[in-house]
Order: sequence, then C-alpha cells, then structure tokens
Amino acid sequence: MPLISRSPDTGVWLLATPHSSYALRIDDSGAPRHIAWGPRLTAAEADALVVPDGEPHSSFEGRPGVGEELPVDDGTRYGPPSLQVRHADGARGFAWQPTGHRVLTEVPGRAELVLEFRDRLHPLHVALHYRVREDTDVIERWTVLHNAGPGPLELPRCDSAAWTLPLLAGYRLSHVTGQWSAESQLRRDLLPFGETVLTSRRGVTSHHANPWVMLDDGTAGEEHGRVWSTALAWSGSWRLTVQRSPDGRAGWTGGVGHDGTCVPLAAGERFTTPVLAGLFSDGGFGTASRVWHAYIRDHVLPHAAEPAPVLYNSWEATGFDVDESGQKALAERAARLGVELYVVDDGWFGARRSDRAGLGDWTPAPDRFPDGLGPLSRAVHRLGMRFGVWVEPEMVSPDSDLYREHPDWVLHVPGRDRTEMRHQLVLNFARPDVADWAHDWLTRLVADHGIDFLKWDMNRAFGEAGWPGQDHGDDLLWTRYVTNLYDVLDRLRADHPRLRIETCAGGGGRVDLGVLARTDQAWVSDNTDAVDRLMIQHGFGQIYPARVMSAWVTDVPNQLTGQSVPLRFRFHVAMAGLLGVGGDLTRWSPEELAEGADLVAAYKKVRHLVQQGRQYRLGEPLGDRTQAVQYLSEDADELLLLAYRRSPRHGTPQPPVRLRDLPTGARYRDTGTGTVHHATVLTEYGLHLGLPTGDWASTALHLVRVPDGA
Ligand code: GLA
Repeated sequence: MPLISRSPDTGVWLLATPHSSYALRIDDSGAPRHIAWGPRLTAAEADALVVPDGEPHSSFEGRPGVGEELPVDDGTRYGPPSLQVRHADGARGFAWQPTGHRVLTEVPGRAELVLEFRDRLHPLHVALHYRVREDTDVIERWTVLHNAGPGPLELPRCDSAAWTLPLLAGYRLSHVTGQWSAESQLRRDLLPFGETVLTSRRGVTSHHANPWVMLDDGTAGEEHGRVWSTALAWSGSWRLTVQRSPDGRAGWTGGVGHDGTCVPLAAGERFTTPVLAGLFSDGGFGTASRVWHAYIRDHVLPHAAEPAPVLYNSWEATGFDVDESGQKALAERAARLGVELYVVDDGWFGARRSDRAGLGDWTPAPDRFPDGLGPLSRAVHRLGMRFGVWVEPEMVSPDSDLYREHPDWVLHVPGRDRTEMRHQLVLNFARPDVADWAHDWLTRLVADHGIDFLKWDMNRAFGEAGWPGQDHGDDLLWTRYVTNLYDVLDRLRADHPRLRIETCAGGGGRVDLGVLARTDQAWVSDNTDAVDRLMIQHGFGQIYPARVMSAWVTDVPNQLTGQSVPLRFRFHVAMAGLLGVGGDLTRWSPEELAEGADLVAAYKKVRHLVQQGRQYRLGEPLGDRTQAVQYLSEDADELLLLAYRRSPRHGTPQPPVRLRDLPTGARYRDTGTGTVHHATVLTEYGLHLGLPTGDWASTALHLVRVPDGA
C-alpha cells in the first residue's frame, strides 16, 4: 500500500505507517475533517468509515468540537480553536475554501501530503502538512500560513495541528509536571470532561510541563493497550489543550504561544508552525516510548548513531571557582577514570565569580586563565579527551560590560522594572543584532580554543517580555526569539561540523523535539541525587531516548538532598543514560577512583545497548519491588539489565524480574559470571537477581546470546 493514497469514490486521504493508519477528507463545507487514527486500514475500510454530515441534534450544538483537522474560530464552532485570525480590516474568522493538494514523494521512504486552502473572503492561505515514513509510526503534522494580502494580520492562535481520538469508553491522560530539580514527574490521571491545558508561559519549554501527552482508555499498561500520543517540536512558550467533549469524544490541539500571545503576519509573510507529531501504538506505554525513542534517534537528532562519549563536568566539584591549574588537576584524574570529554562549567569568563556578574562578557578571565583557554584545551586534548565549555548566550548580568554597553538588548518594557532572576536578564534573541552578536562570539570561541562541545544553558524564564521599537515586537518576540535561537545553533553547527552541543536550561528546562533537532544530548536535571534521578529518568524516558539523557555520578552527601548512596548505585543510575562524572575527583580515594574506572570501562562495553537499544521499563521507580531497565539490541543478541532496589520492607523476599522480548528457545550468557540463562525462563519465570539487602542495592548484567547449537 502506498504511504499516501486518495480514494476516488469518497475523496478520503489515507496515510499508512508500518502499524497504523490515519484517514481524513474534506467535507461538504470545504473543511478538513478527521476520519480515523488507529490500527491499519485498507482503502475500502477507510471509505467505509465515512459518516455523512448529519444535522446537529439541537440548535445549540454547532459543528462537532472534536473531529476537525484544524478547528477554526468561525461559524458555529465552540471547541478550542486551533486557528484564530484577525484580518487586516479587523474582521475575524476563517472559512475553508480548498485550493489544491500535493503529494511529495521525492525522498525515498517518506511521503508528504499538503492540503491547500484559503479563506473565502480574505487573502489568507493555509496549508496543512502531513509527513509519513516507512520506518516509523510517528506522523508529523504542521501548518503553513501565508498572508497574501497587502495589510498585516494577526494570529491569536495558530496551532500546528489538531488530533482526534476514536470514541472510547473513557480516557486517561499521561504527561509530566515538575519544577527546578524535580523535572519529568510522570502523572497518569483520568481525563476530565472539559479542556485540560498544559502550557508554558515562560518563553522556554519549561521544567513545569513538557510538550507531550499520551492518551489511553484507562486500561493500557506498560506492555499492552492502545495509546495515542503527541509531542511538539518547539522550545518557546507553548500550549496543548486536551479536550474531552460533552458527547464523549477526545482530542487535542497544540502549538506555539500561550494565552494572550499572538503571531503577527505582515503583508506577504509566511509562518510555518513547528511540527506537532502524533503516534498511535498498540503495545502499551512501553511500545509508545520505544517508537518515540527510535523516531527521535532516526529522524530528529543530527548524530544519534555516533556513540556519545563519557563526560566529566566540573560544576559540582568547583562551583564558580575555576582556574587553569585546578581544571588541569581534575582533567588528569578524569582521564585516568576513562573520561572521553572534559567540560569546564560556569565561571571561566569575564568577572564571573558568582551568579551576580559576568554573563555577556565571554572572554576567558585573565586572572584565572592568563593565556586564555588554549593551554587547558591543549592539555585536555593531550590527555586524549575532547574539550567542552559551558555557555549561556541568551543571558546577561546587569553587572557586565555587555549590559553597560547595550542596556536595550534585553527583553524589557519601557518604564517598567526589569525583574532579575538569578541576578540576570534575558537578551532579546528575537533581535537580529543580538542573534548575530551571539553567533559571532560563539563561532570565534569554538574556533580559537579548539572546543569540541558546548553545554548551552538558559537559566531563567522571560519577564517583562517586550521589544520596544519593533513593529508588533511584543507579539513577535515569542516566536522570533526561538527561530533565531534555532538559527544561531544551525549556523554554529554548520561552521563547526564536529561540534557537539548539550541543551540545558537550569537542568531540564529546555528539552523538546525542536531543540533536539539541533543538539546532541540534554542535561536532564540539576538534581543529581541518584534516588531522585530514578523518578526523573522514568518520566524523561516516556518520550526521550537514553541516547540524549545526560547523567552524572556526583559526590555524597548529595549537594541538593543531603542523601548518601553507594558509588556503585550512583554509577548504575547514570549508566541508564549518557554516563558522566561530576564529583570532585581530587577528593576521591584510590579505591573510589579504581571502582569508578572499572564502572566507566564496564559502561563503554554496553553503551551501544543503552544508546541504541530498545528500552523496557521493568517495574516502577521507588516502589517496594526491584526496579529494572532492560536495553535490548535490535537483533536481540545482547542485552543490558540495570536493576535498583531499596531495602525491602519487613525483609520481604523479592520476586524475580521478568525480562522482555527475547526469542523463545534462545540462551544468553552472563558476561560477568558465565552463567547461561534460557530466554523462556528469563521472560516467563524471571531472573533472581540476588541483590543484597540494605539501601540501595543495584546491579548491571550484560547478557550475550549463545549461538544456537553451541
Ligand atoms: C545551571 C545548570 C548547571 C550549571 C549551572 C552553572 O543551573 O543546569 O548544571 O551549569 O547553571 O551556573
């Protein structure tokens, strides 16, 4: 079956992915109408799902609130609009007039449907885009708006897409909430009737919510049941409205901006929304996550196939107290541990001695690095490691030369306070001169100091978000800031093809499919307590793959929580993602350094499984039972099992852990002990881990398939 086809009888467009179908058509009024999203359908089956437009059953109903591909604020529609328009003459609304369609198939393995419309009265053109691929069930959708008229118009809402679910007996919503140091807390609650709004009004993706949801009928589990999900590729303010309408239907609409913001569209201008991707899967939350992980690796990240290096970061060891000799001492120890990428965190530039000064003055501090960063960079390279630095290009300290020179470069509203958070203000990246300045110093910094890696941070949300002097500046900045940020990242990567970038915003405040298309990994949280991390990583991994999940082993008692857990446990938690080390290595004992070196070496042997394998969550974090995560190679020839356990209450014996998805009849050898296990025993009866009692026990088992007949 082709990826995209159109029924000659009904005009139904049918989109096919490996395990799902999506069908829509243009209805009698000219509006794009949803038909189906779920298990695979043939063309004839999709045709059979078309229900003729009926009359509303009362004069109060109007058109259905759920069920259009992009509900507009017009006519007799009363659900949450995906598109709201204020035309140049002040009139509102959008009446669908189809003007054409295209199917693009130039790129092998994928196809794109473009449905084109205009307003019946005003010169506003709207194109709905759908992209499907042969190798993923994720469908990408976005919208392009083109103001073909002579005057400016405004889009109070211009969502990327609206998605509709089939009628189910009930609906449950999964998503994450959080805050600084407590990101990605998974919530799973019944979806109430009405509208549930998930949003960021902070100008950045945020710690508090993340732009994805999963919906099921309330019965799906980790490995069974139908799940519909979505994720938005955007790093600024956003809004997802999930709706359960009084007639029992459910769906969502989502895109850029929060309530009260507006996208201005000047005469002749186009606005391309970010992608709001959707996924149907029939294998529970675990399968949904694995499909998202593979999609992000294969189609979002620029270099996912490349093994991510073991990293060292100096932040928790030194705070702002960085200098050349201290960093060299840490780098030598890091190299002996087996670290492959050494990163100097905050404090290397300008007058940065604390968070009170220096942001914006991006030259190495002469008292700390008398000959610049060159000597440290060369020393790190000589030790066989790559060299990275921390930067926060979007921010400025009021106590900085940059701010003294350009006080107008920050987001501000004339006459109002400029509220500082962490003693800093937000540079207005929407301004082309600010974006060019950032690109200019960054590209020179990278070139001049042999920098291989940037940790790109963003440590506060917007405030007094104004852009004086620019036409519609206060509206425009919410999107232009983000597109300029993307543009600077894109230019920097093009200038330095070997440069790798970590996205960070005070921990996990900016992780989304938009920024991941231009970065290589994400700092998930400033909370490095391994126990708290189990919960954070569990939520993070619902959508985002271990390939981007940066995790450090730091010292105990933990700086944030005061909790102490064994070094081995800290390593095993960090090994579930991209292993990094962030402790003060000058204080590690010879025994700790030796144990650390062994664990780094062990990680290198299995990182291909963590970074490229299929991930199975076995058990809940911090429950009474052992929690485990399994990473299985694509060919099922090899797996890594990481297991964690707190002391069992009342000394209760622990049941064995059942592994997932191993071929029946296969046998696996534990590379640590040599023990051979039967796949059927592992999956159907389970593996006794024999973890010692006491808080916090953990293990890492690497099992390799024994050739049949051996
Ligand atoms: C943020 C980051 C930390 C560290 C500090 C430095 O909080 O998330 O990892 O880089 O900034 O100021």
